[in-house]
Amino acid sequence: MWSSVLLILAVFLVAQTVQFFLNIKKVSYLPGFRTLFSQFSVFGAAIPTNYFHPGLNWIWNWRHSVYEYYGTRTISYVPFIGEPVIWTSSIEVAKQLLAGDPRLIKAPSALVPLLLWGDSVLTANHETYKKHRRVVGPAFSSNTYSLVAQETVRWYHEMVEGENWVKQGNFTIECLEQSMLKFTLGVLSRTSFNYRYPWANSSENHGVPFERALTTILTMKDVIIRLATPSWAYKLPIERLRRVDDAYRKLGALMRSFVTSKKEELSSTTDDTEPLRSDLLTRLVSASEAEGKNGLDDSEVIGNVFSFLFAGHETTAHTVAAALALLALHEDEQEKAVKAIREALPDGQDPTFDDFNKLDKVLACFHEAGRMFPGGAIVTRDTTDTFVLKVPDEKKGGEKTLVVPPNMRIMVDMVGIHYDPRLFPDPERYNPSRWYGVNNETDFTYFGLGPRACLGRKFALVVAMSLMTCLLRDWKFTIPLKAGETKEQWRERVMQGKYAGLGFGVHHIPVKMTRRVKP
Ligand code: HEM
Ligand SMILES: *[C@@H]1O[C@H](CO)[C@@H](O)[C@H](O)[C@H]1NC(C)=O
Ligand SMILES: *[C@@H]1O[C@H](CO)[C@@H](O)[C@H](O)[C@H]1NC(C)=O
Ligand SMILES: *[C@@H]1O[C@H](CO)[C@@H](O)[C@H](O)[C@H]1NC(C)=O
Repeated sequence: MWSSVLLILAVFLVAQTVQFFLNIKKVSYLPGFRTLFSQFSVFGAAIPTNYFHPGLNWIWNWRHSVYEYYGTRTISYVPFIGEPVIWTSSIEVAKQLLAGDPRLIKAPSALVPLLLWGDSVLTANHETYKKHRRVVGPAFSSNTYSLVAQETVRWYHEMVEGENWVKQGNFTIECLEQSMLKFTLGVLSRTSFNYRYPWANSSENHGVPFERALTTILTMKDVIIRLATPSWAYKLPIERLRRVDDAYRKLGALMRSFVTSKKEELSSTTDDTEPLRSDLLTRLVSASEAEGKNGLDDSEVIGNVFSFLFAGHETTAHTVAAALALLALHEDEQEKAVKAIREALPDGQDPTFDDFNKLDKVLACFHEAGRMFPGGAIVTRDTTDTFVLKVPDEKKGGEKTLVVPPNMRIMVDMVGIHYDPRLFPDPERYNPSRWYGVNNETDFTYFGLGPRACLGRKFALVVAMSLMTCLLRDWKFTIPLKAGETKEQWRERVMQGKYAGLGFGVHHIPVKMTRRVKP
């Protein structure tokens, strides 16, 4: 009995060892990690990043040392158990990967949480992608951006009122990113499907049912529960499962009803006298109807609206939160931004989309936060065919060719790119002026690169411009230091990037807000 167990184990080990060496060959002997488990496996992710184990967070913790250690910005990650992958933080390699070559795809297995609702512009490839893009692209127009600015400002005033900030005058927010998550969800809801709910103050933390359902679904843990649970299990009396299932049902039903009533509304107003509403759902449904047979079906419309929520919620909230925390830390930069706001809006009026270009210095603060804490920290592509990359040879100069076989996953480490001192000198320094006068959107690499870079880039920037302008105009942000703590120590303690949920960013950021008396 024991001998046969040992025999099976021995055969397994031999087979696995052979596979391991084949995998090292598959990545062309690129230097890099050799570990027991893949970093994305249950075991690999559960063990925190430490000297022996890269864990999930090595792209942050080791951002200054890892590529130097291996002598190249393009490395491999070969686990003993699991699939090998290639990682790169070379902008040259990233550009080749993200240039839109049809042999590189967004693999369904890398996008699992997004596929629950139907294909979308975020997940599709090739011809399907073109179909989605044709319908969805025009929805992101200046009409929509005007609405985004307007709704952001309104929602800001509702937040200030709902939280009773003016009466309090000065106070500490324990978790800035939580407030920003709640804020962005409201903006997305209003501008995606014209759905408004009241700002419930933080003592009634659970929010309205719609907000609650959305929050549940946008939380990674719950998504995993939803995916991993067979349907019969929802009949069991387990509170957590019930809640997740309930949220999916409610939201699904609500989304379907939104689409149905939108279609009815659009078909009943045939004359063109009434201007089209500017929310994304209206634009999507009408563009889709105009395409006739080539349009999107209901599940694809819903899939796309959800992709905006998934792609836009945590990313935007975390970047705004990081920007405000960095401005609290760097009061001189904050004063520069406030000065720019007073120049652009001398009467203290609310910003509109027309003020977008005038507030570029406020946006520079956001860009720099996006560089340091990129919400989309990992961008992945899979090869469907052999693909040849030109990889810079950091040691000898020039470049080498790297032949990548089919079905290989390549991961672009955006943190690594954004801390590359060749591209961003003195990368640890929060320096918004790096972005002064940078107007070409393709330079904002934290939104990705190439033809599939972020579709919601301008959308996110309009939210950031409007919200940060209102906040910085009315409030002074400072950091609540612990007794005896220096600013440097606060930064070291608080401003650490990591994944929590779907997005990368800073977590548990406490800030102090004090009302600015108008001069
Ligand atoms: C600061 C906020 C944001 C960041 C950092 C960000 C980042 C990114 C990145 C890096 C990609 C490229 C992914 C890839 O190439 O695989 C992407 C794609 C995308 N993002 Fe964003 N995003 C943000 C906000 C938004 C918002 C607000 C929306 C929608 C309202 C949005 C919608 C999308 C969509 C639809 C795509 C897919 C585009 C395509 O494949 O053609 N994003 N985003
Ligand atoms: C929040 O709402 C609760 C219940 O409605 C209310 O008692 C409380 O005073 C509100 N707090 C603020 C700050 O408005
Ligand atoms: C903040 O409020 C407290 C009590 O309400 C007050 O003692 C303090 O002076 C205020 N601080 C500032 C900077 O306004
Ligand atoms: C932005 O930069 C890209 C790449 O460098 C270039 O192809 C494009 O024409 C530029 N766009 C504008 C509006 O200048």
